[in-house]
Amino acid sequence: MSNVVVVGTQWGDEGKGKITDFLAQRADVVVRYQGGNNAGHTIVFNGEKFALHLLPSGVLSPDKINIMANGMVINPEALISEIDGLKERGITDFDLRISNRAHIVFPYHIELDSAFENTGSDKIGTTKRGIGPTYTDKAFRSGLRMGDLLDLDYFKNRLKAALDIKNNVLKMMNRETINFDDLYQKYLGYREIIKNYICDTSVLLNELLEDKKVLFEGAQGVMLCIDHGTYPFVTSSSPTAASVPLYTGIAPRHINNVLGIIKAYTTRVGEGAFPTEFSNDVADKIRKTGNEYGTSTGRPRRIGWLDLVVLNHTKRVSGITGLSVMLLDVLSGIQTLKICVAYKYKGEIINVMPSIVDHLNECEPVYIEMPGWQEDITEVTSFDELPMNAKNYLNKIQELTGINVKMFSVGPDRKQTIEVEKVL
Ligand code: GDP
Ligand code: IMO
Ligand code: MG
Repeated sequence: MSNVVVVGTQWGDEGKGKITDFLAQRADVVVRYQGGNNAGHTIVFNGEKFALHLLPSGVLSPDKINIMANGMVINPEALISEIDGLKERGITDFDLRISNRAHIVFPYHIELDSAFENTGSDKIGTTKRGIGPTYTDKAFRSGLRMGDLLDLDYFKNRLKAALDIKNNVLKMMNRETINFDDLYQKYLGYREIIKNYICDTSVLLNELLEDKKVLFEGAQGVMLCIDHGTYPFVTSSSPTAASVPLYTGIAPRHINNVLGIIKAYTTRVGEGAFPTEFSNDVADKIRKTGNEYGTSTGRPRRIGWLDLVVLNHTKRVSGITGLSVMLLDVLSGIQTLKICVAYKYKGEIINVMPSIVDHLNECEPVYIEMPGWQEDITEVTSFDELPMNAKNYLNKIQELTGINVKMFSVGPDRKQTIEVEKVL
């Protein structure tokens, strides 16, 4: 297998960063294909913890080419501060390429993100990083792209036209308007720092695919997909493997190895339906042991049992060919574990995700119960070393999804990763 896509199968924060970093050690190229700094990918090795928001998780392994592809939305200020943060910690020698077609996040996007969140009834609980408004501008054909920074006349004209409209909207929403010259000068400064990274990454990637191992790193999770997620409580891009060709400029035939990253339970940050959510002392224990607080926003994550309706939906829309089960250690010490195998909706058993979020809210999970395990498993190095009940739990996931568990994880550190089957 020379390429792999790492996809979040739930509502994000499944541990994609950890697995991307682990597999990146064997890859030549790591590509982030969508999202922006709404993502927070945590990586731990040699006792050090890193939180990446925009940079591909390959930057922590030497000699990789790291690509930020056209499907991303990039806040240059956040990007520069992330690069500086790594440099301060001695990580300086990464090779970074940014697509000339990736869209740029501006301060008016961030301002509008929070203005829209505070208006109307459907509060999404966004990360307020300007992600939705930037993708809106992309679809509305009024966005600016990284490549525009390389032609200053073009950039200036388009920014002026965009800002004129945005200032009217900001006024309507009782927000402060933005001065063009200040904004332009600020972005000229960013341009000086990042211009050498900008190129046609589709051309580059197609060349690299000829003989290099490429890892595609998704952000968010399929249930946050703009098309297949719990709309409207979703992000504004598609994390599915199906979006990789579009978001990177390659042929679909390159995508046939898709590793679904799944938490051994479920979490969600922000608003929206979450059928297996529960709150009691077990949920509190999971939140505490799993350190379930957002990497980007610090918000406490909502906790739920594993949901196989979600997983089978993800499998279908994203073509998952292998699973990596994360945070298995967090379930140690819980007497009885529950797995949702179907929903009960208006008295009927269903196993397909309803398209209307209000209907999903009315779904009651149908659970099977499994005995938990009491042992600490954080030192386990193979499947065989797991307690019987942990093996049964993994086997049950495999049986009910029909997808092989190729990897699992028993702690945040790079070392606490077990490969049952090679994925790259
Ligand atoms: P991502 O957004 O999918 O990359 O995931 P996040 O980094 O936002 O959240 C996953 C969290 O779980 C991070 O704090 C990781 O360090 C942590 N983590 C990953 N795998 C494991 C694991 O197997 N066990 C434990 N205890 N923590 C893990
Ligand atoms: P990673 O890559 C978890 C959620 C937000 C909100 C919704 C829309 O770390 O898994 P947005 O700011 O994208 O418009 O917010 O999506 N969200 C995430 N939740 N992990 C993420 O990324 C997320 N990125 C966005 O909380 O509910
Ligand atoms: Mg995260």
